[in-house]
Amino acid sequence: MDRLRKRIPTGISGLDKIISGGFIPNSVNLISGGAGTGKTVFALQFLYEGAKRGEKVLFISMEEDLQDLKDDAKVFGWDFDKLENEGKAKFVYIYPYEITNFQTLLINEITRVNAKRVVIDSTSVLGMALDNEFEVRKQLYALASQLKRVGCTSILTSEIIDVESNKFSRFGVEEFVADSVITMHYLKSSKNKVTRAMRIIKMRRTLIPHDPIKIKIDKKGIKVV
Ligand SMILES: Nc1ncnc2c1ncn2[C@@H]1O[C@H](COP(=O)(O)OP(=O)(O)OP(=O)(O)O)[C@@H](O)[C@H]1O
Ligand SMILES: [Mg+2]
Repeated sequence: MDRLRKRIPTGISGLDKIISGGFIPNSVNLISGGAGTGKTVFALQFLYEGAKRGEKVLFISMEEDLQDLKDDAKVFGWDFDKLENEGKAKFVYIYPYEITNFQTLLINEITRVNAKRVVIDSTSVLGMALDNEFEVRKQLYALASQLKRVGCTSILTSEIIDVESNKFSRFGVEEFVADSVITMHYLKSSKNKVTRAMRIIKMRRTLIPHDPIKIKIDKKGIKVV
């Protein structure tokens, strides 16, 4: 039980017991997958779990409008507007082209909020603001190192464009800077039925199953079925 307590529960029903209780404290965790596979829902669920436990949480959006995000979360019963008014959660939009200041902005926000859980959704747009892949790699590496230093547990989301490729992220480097990698998928469906799944690609210090784990998204969020 003591060992479990040292983990950071994701809040995804059924997942934590598979991964020894949750994410490793202070880790950077990559959630990647194709469009609509549930990356943002995963990230919101992770933050809501933290807020329930009295931790301050921070959502950095580089893609979606903040009010849209919070409205989407309400469908699952997660009232981030309320948490934000109470000073327990903060949602910040960072324009991708401000990337040169991105790390300063990020660290300032984390410190100001004293956030224990941080989400950056999505790192894929980093490429828009930077000239070449080398720059992207350098920035992602620096970003992950900084996140680890400030004492929060974080999720980075990333899009996978070519699902058949061996890349687990947009730039093929995010998986190397992250302590854990979970990919989100649609499984081949029969008779118009969509089956969702996640795969745990790697997780330090954790014995992981290698088969896809079937999941569902319903009115309470993501759960392992
Ligand atoms: N209340 C709900 N019940 C069931 N499924 C839902 C509900 N709300 C959203 N979904 C599903 O969740 C999916 C949205 O997932 P999400 O936005 O997290 O995907 P994403 O991986 O972040 O996609 P993108 O790459 O577009 O950002 C939708 O495809 C939708 O089918
Ligand atoms: Mg999303």
